[in-house]
Amino acid sequence: MAGSVPPAPEFGDTLPVEASPEVVAFLARRRSASAMTLTAPGPDDAQLADLLRLAARVPDHGKLAPWRFVILKGAAKDAFAERIAALADSQANPTKAKAALRKLTNPPVCVAVISRVVPGEIPEWEQRQSAAAVCHQMLLAAAALGWGANWITDWYSYDPRATAILGLAEGEQVAGFLYIGTATEQPQERVRPDVAALTRLWSPT
Ligand SMILES: Cc1cc2nc3c(=O)[nH]c(=O)nc-3n(C[C@H](O)[C@H](O)[C@H](O)COP(=O)(O)O)c2cc1C
Repeated sequence: MAGSVPPAPEFGDTLPVEASPEVVAFLARRRSASAMTLTAPGPDDAQLADLLRLAARVPDHGKLAPWRFVILKGAAKDAFAERIAALADSQANPTKAKAALRKLTNPPVCVAVISRVVPGEIPEWEQRQSAAAVCHQMLLAAAALGWGANWITDWYSYDPRATAILGLAEGEQVAGFLYIGTATEQPQERVRPDVAALTRLWSPT
């Protein structure tokens, strides 16, 4: 694994806006690892705390922290998976639903990122986007620290019985299950969109 994570800056510290060729090289090549192939070891408690601290350093309109984390690991994760598995037969495609559970059972550590909405003037859409940013930042931080990681939702993010087992309150949604562990397979580059075809230079008409 990579070295230790620098301590959190103090409030009001001046933070540099500076080029980081190493980060650019990392972004140009990083990939998610297949969740089913993640195995132990995963991050220990101190490493996980660092990971969450890095993941939480995201844009957040209104500084609301409209998200929270549920950690699943060890025997508790096994118990969670068992209770979720009991719901697989009632899914539209039980065979597929059961097969997907290997993404939940194989990796040693899972962080469920829960999107919550704080009442007030900041639109819900923006608060949900901040939760998505947390998921992606966690993916990046995990990979930068040498872990394999994958952002998954799957059916148990949407089945209300499953989200009740996870402990979600009214209005909360699963932004993602972030599966983290040791990658046993190196990912290959996947198809990427034609960014130029998705890009327009706006001009007045
Ligand atoms: C919100 C969200 C939910 C996803 N849910 C699933 C899922 O349920 N099952 C799945 O196989 N992939 C899912 N994916 C895709 C995986 O994260 C996939 O491995 C990833 O897109 C690979 O891209 P990358 O290597 O560029 O990170 C999801 C992605 C996002 C953004």
